[in-house]
Amino acid sequence: MSGNTIEVHGLTKRFGDFTAVDRISFDVRQGEIFGFLGANGAGKSTAIRMLCGLLEPTSGGALVGGFDISRDPEKVKAAIGYMSQRFSLYEDLTVGENIDFYGRVYGMTWQAIRERKQWALDVTSLSGRERSLTGTLSGGWKQRLALGCAVLHQPKIVFLDEPTSGVDPIMRRRFWELINKLSLEGVTILVTTHFLEEAEYCNDIIMINAGTIIATGSPGELKKNYLTTPILEVQCAEVIDAMALIEKEPWALETSVFGSYLHVSVPDEAEARTRIAELLATHGLHLNSIERITPSLEDVFIYLQDRESTKAA
Ligand SMILES: Nc1ncnc2c1ncn2[C@@H]1O[C@H](COP(=O)(O)OP(=O)(O)O)[C@@H](O)[C@H]1O
Ligand SMILES: [Mg+2]
Repeated sequence: MSGNTIEVHGLTKRFGDFTAVDRISFDVRQGEIFGFLGANGAGKSTAIRMLCGLLEPTSGGALVGGFDISRDPEKVKAAIGYMSQRFSLYEDLTVGENIDFYGRVYGMTWQAIRERKQWALDVTSLSGRERSLTGTLSGGWKQRLALGCAVLHQPKIVFLDEPTSGVDPIMRRRFWELINKLSLEGVTILVTTHFLEEAEYCNDIIMINAGTIIATGSPGELKKNYLTTPILEVQCAEVIDAMALIEKEPWALETSVFGSYLHVSVPDEAEARTRIAELLATHGLHLNSIERITPSLEDVFIYLQDRESTKAA
């Protein structure tokens, strides 16, 4: 057991009769970027708040940096950095004052804060903005500042709860470069997201649905192990009509719309190609192309979630 791993066993949180997190278990290795994926309401924030020592589990538990979250929540809090879903920055303080404030919250001395501040400004590319009022920064800059504040005290484990929601794609990309930089320095990062393209940057992922883990693995493993059937991407001018027709067919295992395309998971590629072409032609729809694609994490996630809701029904 090292100072920057996370070991979770049977972690559960109930609110009254409702189970928000249901017996989840997983391990996070030192220095990895671990993705926590799930739709809104899946239980991500509740799980993170327990792992940060902020919310007591109903049952089960975890060791975070070697500390038991139920027995030593104060030690857990001191050992980690946490960026909550709503960045808790003070809009009416300057960038520099927010950094000072978080330094003090994390128990740093003024001397230590001074030494670390320039690093935080550099790593977040906020140098020169120290005197800017935080409220005047755009979402992407606030997000970088929030991360800078969360890692000021050099925690070895950092929890980021949907750090990139409400941020444009370019800033999101730059934010991930920052996350990578920390990971290369050996910091363990657990990050939640509902952007599936972001999950591709994680070393390992768990997918959660209604409080339970439905899949685990690296992005490559998830695509290989959970989606074994071919996926055809169908481009048709009348995409919604085409979907209505195709999803009724027994050979279409899973059908979903991706912008102006359909993704259809099928047991047999050659046979499905012929059937799709025939079906659309019979109904006067205009087929532009059919192509076999490598599944994205989004395909895997949709497939697994549909499978879960079929089970529940
Ligand atoms: N304090 C609470 N009391 C009751 N229900 C809660 C509480 N906190 C969260 N929940 C419920 O638990 C579920 C999971 O919420 P949350 O962990 O915030 O999901 P996520 O972060 O994945 O969107 C939701 O249905 C939410 O309404
Ligand atoms: Mg959340």
